Amino acid sequence: MLLHLGRLLQNNSFIVTINEVPVTAAALEIIHYFSMFLVVGPTAMVDLRVLGAADRHHPVAELAERFFPWVWVALAFNALSGFLMFAGNAVAYIPESTFHAKMLVTLLAVVFTLAVQWSVPKWDRLPVIPATAKVVALLSLVLWIGAILAGVEVPALSGIG
Ligand code: HEM
Repeated sequence: MLLHLGRLLQNNSFIVTINEVPVTAAALEIIHYFSMFLVVGPTAMVDLRVLGAADRHHPVAELAERFFPWVWVALAFNALSGFLMFAGNAVAYIPESTFHAKMLVTLLAVVFTLAVQWSVPKWDRLPVIPATAKVVALLSLVLWIGAILAGVEVPALSGIG
């Protein structure tokens, strides 16, 4: 069933064209990489601030308010470019366990980033950032690094892409 849907997606003329014309195929890769940096960079800044390792001069809520809107816009571009590349070779990606692992790590990273964003106003009102906050921020950071490593490992281990 899923493979059938994947085949339909992969044979769609828009998907075939966007993945086979060199300029659009390269544009997808460039958008995927740049949006990845825009997701992980600012998120890491906020996480490191919560951990007490960066920019102690600014309140954590101020950094979060400034950075998170960009993170979610970048994530939308990242997911869209990723989906279009996935669609170009869907039949190969659907059963691929390294790709499943990348999606799972990315999903968990998003969940922990949302937890940081939602909790920052509360943490900021406390005299000291609590230990649980630091654990959540550390997990967010580690999961985003894991998502990058998983992204690199998908083609390396599976030979797809
Ligand atoms: C959100 C949904 C995402 C989807 C559907 C997706 C899908 C894909 C696909 C299909 C490729 C292979 C492109 C190719 O080389 O032919 C790719 C490459 C890559 N992705 Fe994603 N991706 C997503 C999110 C992410 C995230 C969040 C990160 C890292 C934070 C990431 C990191 C990478 C990297 C580093 C590569 C390049 C791998 C290489 O060629 O060495 N991706 N992605």
